[in-house]
Amino acid sequence: MGSIWKMLRINILVFAVLFSLACSSVRATVSYNNKAIIINGKRRILISGSIHYPRSTPEMWPDLIQKAKDGGLDVIQTYVFWNGHEPSPGKYNFEGRFDLVKFIKLVHQAGLYVHLRIGPYVCAEWNFGGFPVWLKYVPEVEFRTDNQPFKVAMRRFVEKIVNMMKSEKLFEPQGGPIIMSQIENEYGPVEWEIGAPGKAYSAWAAKMAVGLETGVPWIMCKQDTAPDPIIDTCNGFYCEGFHPNKPYKPKMWTEAWTGWYTQFGGPVPHRPAEDLAFAVARFVQNNGSFFNYYMYHGGTNFGRNAAGLFVATSYDYDAPIDEYGLLNEPKWGHLRDLHKAIKQSEPALISSYPTVTRLGKNQEIHVFRSKSGACAAFLSNYDPTYSAKLTFRNMQYNLPPWSISILPDCKTAVYNTARISSKSSQAKMVPVTTGLRWQSYSEETPSADDKDTLTMEGLWEQINVTRDSSDYLWYLTEVNIASNEGFLKSGGWPLLTVMSAGHALHVFINGHLSGTVSGSLNNPKLTYSGKVNLRAGVNKLSLLSVAVGLPNIGLHYERWNTGILGPVTLKGLNEGTRDLSRQKWSYKAGLKGESLSLDTVGGSSSVEWVEGSLLAQKQPLTWYKTTFSAPQGNDPLGLDMISMGKGEIWINGQSIGRHWPAYIAKGSCGDCNYAGTFTEKKCQRNCSQPSQRWYHVPRSWLKPSGNLLVVFEEWGGDPTKISLVKRIV
Ligand code: GAL
Repeated sequence: MGSIWKMLRINILVFAVLFSLACSSVRATVSYNNKAIIINGKRRILISGSIHYPRSTPEMWPDLIQKAKDGGLDVIQTYVFWNGHEPSPGKYNFEGRFDLVKFIKLVHQAGLYVHLRIGPYVCAEWNFGGFPVWLKYVPEVEFRTDNQPFKVAMRRFVEKIVNMMKSEKLFEPQGGPIIMSQIENEYGPVEWEIGAPGKAYSAWAAKMAVGLETGVPWIMCKQDTAPDPIIDTCNGFYCEGFHPNKPYKPKMWTEAWTGWYTQFGGPVPHRPAEDLAFAVARFVQNNGSFFNYYMYHGGTNFGRNAAGLFVATSYDYDAPIDEYGLLNEPKWGHLRDLHKAIKQSEPALISSYPTVTRLGKNQEIHVFRSKSGACAAFLSNYDPTYSAKLTFRNMQYNLPPWSISILPDCKTAVYNTARISSKSSQAKMVPVTTGLRWQSYSEETPSADDKDTLTMEGLWEQINVTRDSSDYLWYLTEVNIASNEGFLKSGGWPLLTVMSAGHALHVFINGHLSGTVSGSLNNPKLTYSGKVNLRAGVNKLSLLSVAVGLPNIGLHYERWNTGILGPVTLKGLNEGTRDLSRQKWSYKAGLKGESLSLDTVGGSSSVEWVEGSLLAQKQPLTWYKTTFSAPQGNDPLGLDMISMGKGEIWINGQSIGRHWPAYIAKGSCGDCNYAGTFTEKKCQRNCSQPSQRWYHVPRSWLKPSGNLLVVFEEWGGDPTKISLVKRIV
């Protein structure tokens, strides 16, 4: 009996030891040390690229992921977009472009890892930085600080995502692809600015995240105060000089900017492939072991997802895969070649710190060696103007200006960042469907006495009224003009001044457009000032205020205002200047066409459209519709909107985004020399052209025939010149 108990006890002990070993090895499958992220016991040089799932369609995902894999990536990095997933409190959406689990599973199937940036603050030129607008109206809430209502909401969402990933077994220790997560985003500068509550908040965020026991490391980007065990990482055009806040953390670069985002009114940014490759090689030779291209595929800001300060619908970013899913050459190929050279050097890179030899002011040699004899060398010439000849182990190597050569065996220079062997691609937009038959419907200009308006004293902040259900808010009031007003006789019209916090404005007097203004890139605020044609008696003043995305960045950006906050004044009356700001105003959120769902087949039949000679042309506030068949083939499609002004486009009821081809790019687009420090203002393209002329139409949104295309035009345009184009390289 006694010996049976003894046996049993030993068995239990052995089982317990095995179990705990099993658990600890499960827990330890992804970890890190000072050199690198360690996956299943192996230090890795990890090459990563950002693809944001809602910026393309599920039908595009497999191809994008495959192209990333072919480009030599190990990891796909994405943010998680809270406002897309929880459009109203507790009502979740994980469908279509927001099918996060499907996206991650596709990455897994392709054999790649995932870096999941849960945030939930994402910045990302995404509406409201990813926060749902309802969060702003939670009582007492303050974003991104030590604020209880905010922390409660943030924890709930982060837990929701982590639990979802766990139940789908998507973390690496569960056999899934997620090797890393991110909490917050670039909180360092905010913490520095706001002090104690910022510190308390980041300590809380770190503890909350780590407490969720995902089994994989958490990172905080651009936050050198990141508490252990969280790894702080670098974002920027260059990160070679970055050091994590503790000597036992690896040197990681979460955002290597491949280009930059386009804004309506700005030129199109371009970052030369040579400089990007140089920046990455420089990071790796300086002991960097993880880098992520932000963006690898930028994609499209469909719908109203683009953030404030006029971020365009295209989020192409000059990324290695272009907005339409085609390879952006030579960038894609040049980076693929770089990745090959880095992978060949991996055994040496993960084994040692480099030995650095300085050869004069601008040249260096970095050598990595492993105990087992692997050797890799990086030869660098930082001189932006002159080439250099470097002697290494009795061999001479020629280096162009601003370049690095990689010698994975310390002998053969297999790659130089300034020597491109991939061919450049020239993408063309070729018209495939022209001469569409359009019909038009004129949006009505409402007035203060309409029944379906909301009347209040004074001027109200726009988002407070619309809750961002639409870009549009009508501010409606009446102006009484006595018959003895001097200007009625003299003809000198009074001056109307409207001050708005942004972002665009149309002024209608008695139903007629008096003027249009919009904010500029650096300043969303605007002022309308114009003489207005008023008559004796009651005049209807209808102001259409238009938001172009909510802010996504800045200290307490939740407090930033949109819309007409005044003053609104009339100057040149008998009484002098009349302040209209405090009188009664009526409000109407959204357009009539929006409330009738004119973008859908069902909705569009609820109004009478006109065509032929009656077709509205160059008229403000006009809806247009047509139908078309899907062009043959697989080439990606777009709409050439060159003849239009500003508004929004829908295909079969789905918004492909805001159009604003009338906003012409101002800036300097001089010569582009890859050598020398890059900034987003260097090498810009497309000056004096529309910032965005073409708008991506995902193939998967089309049926073979009878596709409904609806355009709402604010400024006035000629729809007959809109054409469907295919993008070919
Ligand atoms: C970073 C930010 C990203 C994105 C980027 C600019 O600072 O973390 O989310 O906004 O800037 O494209």
